[in-house]
Amino acid sequence: MLFHSKFSKDVSPGMPHPTPRSSTVHRKLVFLLAALPVAGLYLYGRVPAPAYAAQTLPAAEPLAPAALAALGKQIFFDPSLSASGHISCATCHNPAHAYGPPNGLAVQLGGPGMDRQGMRAVPSLRYVLNRTPFYNQNYVADPIERLREGVEPPTGGLGWDGRFNTLREQAAFPLLAANEMANASPQEVAAKLQRAPYAAEFRKLFGAHIFADPAKAYAQALAALERFELDDPSFHPYNSKYDDYLDGKAQLSDRERRGLALFDDAKRGNCASCHIDRKGADGSHPLLTDYEFEALGVPRNPEIRANSDPGYYDMGLCGPLRTDQAAQAGQPQNCGLFKTPTLRNVATRGVFFHNGHFHSLREALRFYVRRDTDPRLWYPVSASGVIKFDDLPEDKRRNVDVIDEPLTRTEGAAPAWSDAEIEDVIAFLKTLSDRDVVSAIEAR
Ligand code: HEC
Ligand code: HEC
Repeated sequence: MLFHSKFSKDVSPGMPHPTPRSSTVHRKLVFLLAALPVAGLYLYGRVPAPAYAAQTLPAAEPLAPAALAALGKQIFFDPSLSASGHISCATCHNPAHAYGPPNGLAVQLGGPGMDRQGMRAVPSLRYVLNRTPFYNQNYVADPIERLREGVEPPTGGLGWDGRFNTLREQAAFPLLAANEMANASPQEVAAKLQRAPYAAEFRKLFGAHIFADPAKAYAQALAALERFELDDPSFHPYNSKYDDYLDGKAQLSDRERRGLALFDDAKRGNCASCHIDRKGADGSHPLLTDYEFEALGVPRNPEIRANSDPGYYDMGLCGPLRTDQAAQAGQPQNCGLFKTPTLRNVATRGVFFHNGHFHSLREALRFYVRRDTDPRLWYPVSASGVIKFDDLPEDKRRNVDVIDEPLTRTEGAAPAWSDAEIEDVIAFLKTLSDRDVVSAIEAR
């Protein structure tokens, strides 16, 4: 989706048309290069460097990144930091599953009694180091500039709705969320850290009196988690078959090659327009995402209990978890948009899309190519017909992407891919699995 402006249809009457796509791309690059010199360089990079951490480290942080990452690792795997005593970060982000969910549940359970459901599918934490901070052009302050620029999909950030800009900011969320690790306050987390087996390392790194300042101890724990996720090689191995293929060290099978061609084919699959699969100009390996947000109209998932309330909708960028981009703020075009995830290690998952509606890659791919040709396969049917895009309020369904292939077809038309072609694409997607994950699956 880097190559056109999706929201041209949403521009209000009287506003000038958005600028043509070449300048859109150019503008985005200029922005990235101007505002994010560090992140920009590492955007698709193989380079295991901290993308944006360097600017935000607390002053008190010791100059011992390896020790900090090692401490972060202990915190990441420590279930005593949860109210239930049963879950750590690694419970939901399991290293043997590319730091993704270990099971096929649409959403995981947490909370003090381990009976509270999450709201969204667990993403893989592999390759999070390359994420850029959230950027939404609507927030350009000058209204004249905004008019001249037109409206584009937002990019970047962490979480399905991009609501966190840094990994340390993000790490606070699961520690305190009532349906995840469910601590009542940062002080409670600090008290648990003080009792943890690695408390001595904490004191060694941050001073003997670190626990006298719970807010500081908490902030250092978040920084340690961030350092672990950024620096530990297990988060960015770049050793999939596809990486080897890009480096000329492996050949794709005929089937994988056919799948890749379908994935790239702009008229049929068009997947690579959002899930970028080419090397960067500097030779860096692709992450199979463009960091943008889109509404794909994934069907409502009855496995999520909150959905039994017909008035509840997870609308991604416009809430309920993210509150700064809401429709009330004059940006209804953001409702229903979710982040384009990386497809690295996607074949190892048991749950797909933000609401975990699909449980096999085959179904997820069938949805892409038959969403519009066979809508009755996916959506409820009422007396007045099929209710497409039923997981969004009626007035927000116009935000769903109907202009990017293969999402442009009409009911009854031929789907973009046959079932056999879907199998070819699955074969290609399997080449995106890192080596350790492939062997873990084979051993199971
Ligand atoms: C109960 C399950 C659960 C636990 C425990 C958990 N997470 Fe998550 N994690 C999730 C879910 C669900 C999301 C997606 C949240 C969203 O989009 O709102 C997520 C998202 C993330 C992301 C953003 C990834 C991306 O691609 O944008 C990071 C980073 C992350 N978690 C790190 C952690 C860390 C660090 C811990 C421990 C302090 C942790 N998580 C504990 C379920 C969990
Ligand atoms: C217009 C941009 C766009 C195009 C084109 C596109 N995708 Fe996606 N893809 C997304 C977004 C956005 C999501 C997440 C949507 C959500 O969860 O609501 C996603 C999610 C996925 C997922 C689920 C991954 C996960 O971890 O849950 C798979 C699999 C996937 N895409 C494969 C494909 C394939 C195959 C194609 C080509 C047929 C394709 N995509 C085309 C934007 C795109």
